[in-house]
Amino acid sequence: MKKLLYSIYVRFIFLFIGILIISAVLSLGIVTVFQLEDVKGMVQKQLEDKVSAIDALSQERDIPLKEAVQYLEGKELTIRVYEDRDELVKAKRFSVLQEDLKQLEQGGVITKELNSTPPLPVSVGHIKGYYVMVHPDIDNNQIVRFQKTVQTVLLTAIVLGSLLILLAVSMVVKPIKKISKASVEVANGTFDVHIQHRGKDEIGELVKNFNIMVQELKANEYLHKEFVSSVSHEFKTPLSSINGFASLLKTKDLSKKEKEEYIEIIIKESNRLSNLSSNLLRLSKLDHQAIQHRREVFQLDEQIRRVILLLQDSWENNHIQLQVDLDQVSFKGDEELLQQVWINLLVNAIKFTPEYGIISIVLKKAHNRVLFSISDNGIGVSESDVKRIFERFYKADKSRSNHGTGLGLAIVKKIVEIHDGKVTVESDLGKGSLFKVELPDYEIKKIDS
Ligand SMILES: Nc1ncnc2c1ncn2[C@@H]1O[C@H](COP(=O)(O)OP(=O)(O)O)[C@@H](O)[C@H]1O
Ligand SMILES: [Mg+2]
Repeated sequence: MKKLLYSIYVRFIFLFIGILIISAVLSLGIVTVFQLEDVKGMVQKQLEDKVSAIDALSQERDIPLKEAVQYLEGKELTIRVYEDRDELVKAKRFSVLQEDLKQLEQGGVITKELNSTPPLPVSVGHIKGYYVMVHPDIDNNQIVRFQKTVQTVLLTAIVLGSLLILLAVSMVVKPIKKISKASVEVANGTFDVHIQHRGKDEIGELVKNFNIMVQELKANEYLHKEFVSSVSHEFKTPLSSINGFASLLKTKDLSKKEKEEYIEIIIKESNRLSNLSSNLLRLSKLDHQAIQHRREVFQLDEQIRRVILLLQDSWENNHIQLQVDLDQVSFKGDEELLQQVWINLLVNAIKFTPEYGIISIVLKKAHNRVLFSISDNGIGVSESDVKRIFERFYKADKSRSNHGTGLGLAIVKKIVEIHDGKVTVESDLGKGSLFKVELPDYEIKKIDS
């Protein structure tokens, strides 16, 4: 019951119907004060005219009073004749005062208020010794009809108005109720709610935004679940492989070659696990900004050159030809993080380019930006995969030859974005890939500040 009272629906209805009734009552008051007085005046005039007419008819034409009365009797009027003043006073049709009687005896016509509900006017005249009283019919007269009309109009307005208010309020409240119900579901973790509502008003807008919000929450939750399942999957594979080969090693009759092979696999898989955890840790730190990113000025071209040397063994072993063209660029940012970007991109280029391939690395300044690009003529990525390769754990080639984690490019993207830059890729399956990193120009920033 209490809940119902606090419902927006009930409150709206009370409010609007209250307003409706108040305005009806006020209208009734105003109409009564101005219009009803007019109608009463009109009726009074009619009564007085009637008395004068009876007077005129019986006096001037010398017709007996009762006949004159019969003659002039009309509808909606009641005419009574009293023989003498005692009879008039006794009838108690209205409160007869001494001065009224005096006025009557002097030949005047008096108008008073009849003892009736509602009070009606009454006119009395003193004609040929009789007291003639004229008043409107109690049940059927202009005043009562007017009051009834006004009351009917107002009552109809209240009833119809209330019905319309019920309808309108329920129209307004219905979507709000739906939203409230849906948000409870969302809070309980159900994201499959969609509110149907047509309308371009504020509530329509609210419903639209609510639906968008739910969709995003759902996508987020989906990503979260997928992330967790990816992580556990990525850990499970090397772990079961280590487990398997370790068990095999326990069996005694193994050749030396077999033993070495198994140990080799165990080492490789452990490395992969350790890689995976450090990459995950790195990403999570980047996500949560746990580390305050240092911003120091350093030579970007030198850093890239160092990375190329660091990976010299792996590109030389694959007989890959490196074309390097680096402008001198000083940059302000987190040196350690940025080094990871060049490493990840170059490692990928080497990994996904067959022997005797060509990798070209360029660093330029242009249009107030620092532009880095690395292209290879390796295996490339298909059009459908290229959109997703920056996602965590995404590996375009599902073949076993790639022992990567699928986190390298996600880390690249994150670090570049931390430095207000962006990374893009163009790739053709079978022909090669081009990764571009665009960073803000430190020199320009320096002049600005
Ligand atoms: N230079 C490249 N040529 C072809 N494919 C690439 C290249 N760089 C990245 N990719 C694709 O993008 C995927 C994601 O790369 P990355 O995030 O570095 O993960 P990982 O190297 O651990 O597989 C790779 O698995 C690969 O399919
Ligand atoms: Mg990689």
